Amino acid sequence: MKRVALITGAARGLGEIIARRLHAAGYRVALGDLDARAAGAIADALDPSGETAVGLALDVTDKSAFEAANSALQQRWGGTDVLVNNAGRSQVSALMEISPEEFDRVVAVNLRGTFVGSQVFGAHFAQRGFGRIVNIGSLAGQSGGTATGAHYAAAKGGVGVLTKIFARELAASGVTVNCVSPGPLDLPVVHETVPAQRLDAIRRSIPVQRLGSPEYVADIVLLLAADHAGAVTGANWDANGGLLMR
Ligand SMILES: NC(=O)c1ccc[n+]([C@@H]2O[C@H](COP(=O)([O-])OP(=O)(O)OC[C@H]3O[C@@H](n4cnc5c(N)ncnc54)[C@H](O)[C@@H]3O)[C@@H](O)[C@H]2O)c1
Repeated sequence: MKRVALITGAARGLGEIIARRLHAAGYRVALGDLDARAAGAIADALDPSGETAVGLALDVTDKSAFEAANSALQQRWGGTDVLVNNAGRSQVSALMEISPEEFDRVVAVNLRGTFVGSQVFGAHFAQRGFGRIVNIGSLAGQSGGTATGAHYAAAKGGVGVLTKIFARELAASGVTVNCVSPGPLDLPVVHETVPAQRLDAIRRSIPVQRLGSPEYVADIVLLLAADHAGAVTGANWDANGGLLMR
């Protein structure tokens, strides 16, 4: 039996790398994203027949979109086994200048998205007696962040807490819920938004003196999603180059 994984925000960046990794490991993958065209193009490249990869239009802030994705995957592959709550949006904004509206928008993608996704798929997994939810948190959610905005950091802090709450709720149903908290990763969004000089300074400030590997984060997701990972739940796996040790 091939397990089925839905990865949110999989049209680029870390989500795409996670989707590719899970597919290479034998999962059937659904790539959910606001950008359905880009998600579909990656799915086509992974498997033009559509038997093991599909792109889905999915706005994670919308609970009914998760319900629709759940039904679509039920019809297509008989159900879902793994949800990776990866979609996120960071915004560099000065603390005192963040408007309430901007705060709500950033929190909706990063926190409400994880909440409603975990509700919809947590219930589906509990009914089936098996499931894995892997949340992508962030070092910013643990330390308060530096470059990223307060809304982003606060939302990611919330993702860490939701991980424990859903883990406790679903533990007896064969469903695990865990979080991975990367520091700055070697990803397009980092190179696009951080000027080269500032990026050098960031690199030097990281104890291991390098940006994190998104491919390694994808391997962590794979480990947490494994069938034999059933005793790991409510955990938060740091991958921050030594910026936060605890
Ligand atoms: N890049 C880093 O250094 C870093 C560090 C720590 C954590 N993270 C986390 O990793 C995850 C992926 O980040 P990335 O760097 O690949 O970002 P990215 O901006 O490159 O990609 C994010 C993807 O999410 C999609 N997305 C945005 N809003 C969405 C929504 N409402 N519904 C569905 N999809 C939506 C975008 O279309 C895009 O494809 C995020 O949760 C981010 O917070 C990233």
